[in-house]
Amino acid sequence: MRYLKEAAIMNEKIAITTAKFDHLAEEAQKLGAHYGINYIARGNKGINKLMNMHDLDNMLVLSAEGLTAYAINQEEKLRFHPGMAVARLRLANNGPKEPLLRAVEPFGGMRILDCTLGLASDAVSLAVHIGEEGRIMGLEAAQALYIVTDYGLKNCRINNKKIDQALERISVQNVRYEDFLARTEENFDAVYFDPMFDHGLYKSSGINALRPFADYTRLSQQYLEQALSVAPKVVVKYRQNDELGLIFDEVIKGKYSPIAFGVCYRR
Ligand SMILES: C[S@@+](CC[C@H](N)C(=O)[O-])C[C@H]1O[C@@H](n2cnc3c(N)ncnc32)[C@H](O)[C@@H]1O
Repeated sequence: MRYLKEAAIMNEKIAITTAKFDHLAEEAQKLGAHYGINYIARGNKGINKLMNMHDLDNMLVLSAEGLTAYAINQEEKLRFHPGMAVARLRLANNGPKEPLLRAVEPFGGMRILDCTLGLASDAVSLAVHIGEEGRIMGLEAAQALYIVTDYGLKNCRINNKKIDQALERISVQNVRYEDFLARTEENFDAVYFDPMFDHGLYKSSGINALRPFADYTRLSQQYLEQALSVAPKVVVKYRQNDELGLIFDEVIKGKYSPIAFGVCYRR
């Protein structure tokens, strides 16, 4: 098993513990060491109490169910699960193509840079369609999200061959896309952005759970253009009512959804 060691880049104060009474303590300590975060013994204390005692923003809890992230004084908790990918795959096989697939147009061997990986739902949906040789590099600024997703991609399997194999095509880095795009020498076939919406509730409960943990950087035209220097095509997910100030060559929409995908091509 491989874990990336990256410094915390949002200055989040984060630690790892276990379910009550320190089951899996050794495994949690090892994970903490791999991800460069402190391990705190749980005993029988509540998660919020532990976070307050240690002045933490986020806490990761390792249990038999996997790795779950908690944010201080928030109800939402975050866990990686590729279950939605099964429904999306069924739709892709039987129904009209979802707008994400129409916008990115995945093909065998494709290399995609997902600049805003989150819980990797979109990345997993794309990874299914890029064949054994295809690869997705996912970037995630928020450390708790990065760890939950990276751990989930490496350890969560759902006995669905297509999805399980797709998970292995995605690698993750805990880095801001601004920094990555400035220094990378790699080339991709497409770059994908799905930044957080500024306001309002998300329809998907998965994204609502992500809200307390996420980075809310707005995507600017500058980074859209920088992305075009590493790939011939850039796709941006956005809400049709939002004022983005971005220029697209093409827009792809679903029939009834408020979500659209802006596409830009390198000239
Ligand atoms: C709407 S979510 C993406 C959801 C994702 N497409 C999925 O299917 O799970 C946006 C994610 O981008 C991350 N993010 C925001 N700004 C970023 C930046 N500048 N660099 C890297 N990640 C960023 C947020 O922390 C959040 O996890």
